[in-house]
Parts: sequence; structure tokens; C-alpha cells
Amino acid sequence: MVVDFISKELEALQDAGLYRRLRRVEGDQGSTLMLDGREVINFSSNNYLGIANHPALAAAAKAAIDRYGCGSGASRLISGNMTLHEELEAKLAQFKNTEAALVFNSGFQANIGILSTLAGEGDAILSDSLNHASIIDGCRLSKARTLVYAHCDLNGLEAALKQAASARRRLIVTETIFSMDGDEAPLAAVVDLAEKYDAMVMVDEAHGTGVFGANGAGVVAKLGLASRVLIQMGTLGKALGGFGAYVAGSRELCDLLINRCRSFIFTTSLPPAVMAMALAAIDLVQSEPQRRAALRHNCQKLKTGLSRLGFELGQSESPILPLIVGDAARCMALSAALLDRGVFAQGIRPPTVPLGTSRLRITLMATHSMGQIERALSVFDEVKKRSWPAITTS
Ligand SMILES: Cc1ncc(COP(=O)(O)O)c(C=O)c1O
Repeated sequence: MVVDFISKELEALQDAGLYRRLRRVEGDQGSTLMLDGREVINFSSNNYLGIANHPALAAAAKAAIDRYGCGSGASRLISGNMTLHEELEAKLAQFKNTEAALVFNSGFQANIGILSTLAGEGDAILSDSLNHASIIDGCRLSKARTLVYAHCDLNGLEAALKQAASARRRLIVTETIFSMDGDEAPLAAVVDLAEKYDAMVMVDEAHGTGVFGANGAGVVAKLGLASRVLIQMGTLGKALGGFGAYVAGSRELCDLLINRCRSFIFTTSLPPAVMAMALAAIDLVQSEPQRRAALRHNCQKLKTGLSRLGFELGQSESPILPLIVGDAARCMALSAALLDRGVFAQGIRPPTVPLGTSRLRITLMATHSMGQIERALSVFDEVKKRSWPAITTS
């Protein structure tokens, strides 16, 4: 039967230790979670600043529903362009220090749409090998020639730029903070190379926004590169605690996307409550730098503690701490042993990360207490002493 492939594919995933299932969260998104019916300490969220359940965001969303209702009713170019969309875009442009900004329904939609609008046949996209799935899919959709350079390798990037010399246009795309490794792209040098070889630069600040820069505007702001990066994309669903995404750049860039970008044009616009949450979140992110300080402090505490216990963490200057295990099944066993003891650190397997690099992706929040971090460290210690040797000898 033609549909047999479904059960076969599921069996193959089970056999390879790559089968995934959804976990259920009851209650809100805090530094603890009610996960599958148990309270656990949450080290698996992108809610880095801990504002996803902040009363100011909730109040803004409720007020927007009272004033504007629930749905937007249509796409932006039909009747779905509401005042809150424009207010948020003005605020994002100010936040990012750009001429303009444009809101997208999600980061995934933004990446596939922006890349396929700005590059096409005859063009070259130069893409870091660890870029997010949405960037990879955007490259595919664009039909441009994609040259993948080794992760953060400037020599590799320069060689690819030389290879792309005859392309009609060149576009370099990189995350600023890599989602699964937490390391930072060498952005200033990437921009220098882009200028040398006449290439556009697009950055994905999904994990940089809110966390880096004096007012939380991201890595581009931290490095003072806003005027030299053509396309600054980011999300509203991670440190900003809500949902949606944006691109910040020139007015002309935004106008081209409004006219050409299929994932912007052919979709119902985000509802008023989501816009209002983002407006409140940007205010909080800018006015409460102590959240970034608390986050940095928590990262340092957990990092130091884990390395004292003998765990090797990848190079990371962000709230994303990768604990590389290698084998997918062993990684999931470690994650399960921690979860049994009330610590939720999600195991990440291929295809999200390259084969043989399965890892715990441990993420910190500004709202973790010292008690929670110390408890986590004692659980890591216990698991290492009791079950981890058994897990590693497979
Ligand atoms: C680097 C990166 N880009 C884009 C996205 C997609 O963003 P969104 O969750 O808003 O679709 C994510 C998150 O999943 C991400 O980690």
C-alpha cells in the first residue's frame, strides 16, 4: 500500500534514535515548567530575559484586544495593515537604528521570504554551514547558487566570494549568535569581506536580539555595524517573549519586500495582541538592562559550575550552552536522566545539528534563581557520578 511508507519512516526514526514526540507544558513559561505533569527547572527555552509571562506584555495584549479585537482579517496588502503594525515597525526601526522595519509572521517565514526575494538565478548566496533550517530553505527556494562556507571560517568565506565573482549579485547570510552552539559570528570581519567583494550582508539576530548590545538591540548594535549590514532579521518570539519576526534596514529594502516577498504578501497579518506584546517587550528590553546583567551572571555561574564538574561545553558567549555528547541515543539518555531528577535540558539531534554532534542545548534565563542553578548543578553532578558512565559505555 502506498501509505506504508509512513509507518516505515517512523520505524526507521525509532531505530536510529531520532524519533521525536511532543511534550506538554501546562501553565506559563517560567524558569520552572509544568512539563508532562511534573514541575521541572527549565533550561530549554529561548525566553532568555524571562518576559514571556511578564504582566506588562499580558496587559498590552489584553488592551489591544479590547481596542482592536482579535484577528487582523486579511494580509497586510489587503485590509490587514493595522495601526499597531505600523507602530511596531517604527519602534523596531528606532530600536535597530535603521531607516525602516517590516514585521513578518515568523522568523521562518522571514528567512525564506527575504532570501528568495533578494537572490535568484544567476546570484550567489554565501551561507555559514551552521545556519538555521529556515536560512537553508530560503537558499533553496531562491534558486541562487548557494556556497556553504565552513562555520565562521573567514578564509572559507573569502574563497567562496572569489568563486562567486561572476555572479550577478552576492549575498552573505549568517546568524549572529548560532542557535545550537551559542557562539558569535565574526561579524565585523564578515562585513569587511562583503565590502571588499561587493556583497550584501544579511544577519539573523534570532538569538542576539534582547540579549546583546547596551539597549538589547543585538550583536549588530553591540558592534556598531547597523549602517553596514543591509538586512537585519530577527524574531519577536525568543528574548522578546512574544511571537513573530521582523527585518530592519532601509526603506527601499522594506518596500521591495512589501512588493515581492511571497511569505510577507500571501499570509494573514499578525493579530493586534501580538503587535502590542512586541511593543511592550521592546520597552522592557530597553528600560531593564538589569535583565541582561542577571542573564550574564546566571550563564557564568552555570558554565563555571559545569566545567568544575568536568563537563565540556562548546565555545559560547551567549545564554546557549552546548554540551556535546555525540551519539544521539546517548544524548537523549543523558537528557532523560536529568529530567527524571527535575532538570529539563533538551537533547538536540540530527537533522537539527550535524551527525555525531548531538548535544544538550542548555539555555539560561535572566529569571533563574541561584537556588535553581545550584540545584541543577547538583543534579548534573549526581547524573555524572551515577548514570553517565553507564550511558557513555554503550
Ligand atoms: C536562528 C533562527 N532563525 C530563525 C528562527 C525561526 O524563528 P521563528 O521561531 O520566529 O519562526 C529560529 C528559531 O526557531 C532560529 O533559531
